[in-house]
Amino acid sequence: MRHARAYGLAGLAALAVAAAAVAQTTVTPVPDKAPVQVAPLAGAAEHATWGDPKKGQSLAGACAACHGLDGNPSTPAYPRLAGMPERYVAQQLALFKTQQRTTGMAAVMYPIAQVLTAQDMRDLGAWFQTQKAGAGIADDTAIASGPNAGKKYYEVGETLVRGGDKARGIPACMACHGGAGQGNPGPAYPALAGQQADYAKRRLEEYRTGTGAPPTYKNFHIMASIASKLTDEEIGSLSSYIQGLHNRANDVGAKAGSAASPIAAAPAAATPAAAPAATPAATPASPASVPAQTTAPVKPATPAPAAPAGTTPTQG
Ligand code: HEC
Ligand code: HEC
Repeated sequence: MRHARAYGLAGLAALAVAAAAVAQTTVTPVPDKAPVQVAPLAGAAEHATWGDPKKGQSLAGACAACHGLDGNPSTPAYPRLAGMPERYVAQQLALFKTQQRTTGMAAVMYPIAQVLTAQDMRDLGAWFQTQKAGAGIADDTAIASGPNAGKKYYEVGETLVRGGDKARGIPACMACHGGAGQGNPGPAYPALAGQQADYAKRRLEEYRTGTGAPPTYKNFHIMASIASKLTDEEIGSLSSYIQGLHNRANDVGAKAGSAASPIAAAPAAATPAAAPAATPAATPASPASVPAQTTAPVKPATPAPAAPAGTTPTQG
């Protein structure tokens, strides 16, 4: 009796091991190392599975006129979507659909988002996330007067992106937006690299005002608490720096002179924030290497094992 029971248990254990082995042969997404947001995204389209970039591409024709087919717009009025984390794109589309995002030219997006299903939003997000973001040029004009006189215009922003301002409780932007401005797919933090300066400036001003978003829209308020501390000059400079910042991983394999290759002359582009000068190219800090949701000041991220741009994030 005793023996029979022991064999029975051993058999069960063997079955469990076998089941685990089978499970390991199928490709199951593993959770992100980054802190996982447990609450559903505010306004987000739920009940969708991980996006399919191919399907997204076939839907992206409807976005091309304004955002460019690959998410690199040709007009400064439209935000750059290339390289944006999938869940951020899906969340913003859901916010447009439900008309919870109301600022700026949001109304332009309402009819477009209206016809999209939750799955379409994820598919579109997957498409844009896998596209390479181009970058613009940061302004390196010397500042003539004021506390930052003598610095290059973009340098004020660069300092904040890399290190924040401890004295005023401003965390380094790259703690959340990634060392190369690539965003953080888990908690749906947007990419900043190459974003159009006009658009970024307007968004920062909106966050600074801190109104117009429902209290339950957690991510808005995370950003609003930071922007509330920024001066006009800092917002202008940050936007300029962001526009020139590009993810160096995008350069690898990019043909010289091709439309996709970032402009080499951009001052900010020459030194992606994550990579100290001595580190090899293409090692943007992995989003997982920095605390994603802290509001405490953080030191500039140390280079982490490379997470190639466009890597499919592993958490839905
Ligand atoms: C007629 C022009 C137009 C078209 C077409 C269009 N958009 Fe937009 N989109 C805009 C504008 C303008 C904004 C900026 C809204 C604002 O002022 O905040 C925007 C914003 C967005 C944002 C938010 C970006 C961010 O960084 O927060 C996303 C995501 C987006 N659009 C996705 C799409 C997708 C996906 C499609 C195609 C299905 C699409 N858009 C088609 C004009 C357009
Ligand atoms: C604690 C995390 C955190 C930090 C630190 C942070 N951000 Fe953000 N940021 C966010 C989140 C979350 C959003 C998205 C908010 C939303 O959904 O509206 C955001 C949105 C933005 C946007 C709008 C992007 C778009 O495509 O519309 C800009 C621009 C931006 N942040 C710039 C900055 C700058 C500049 C700094 C540093 C001064 C900074 N952020 C620091 C979390 C952070």
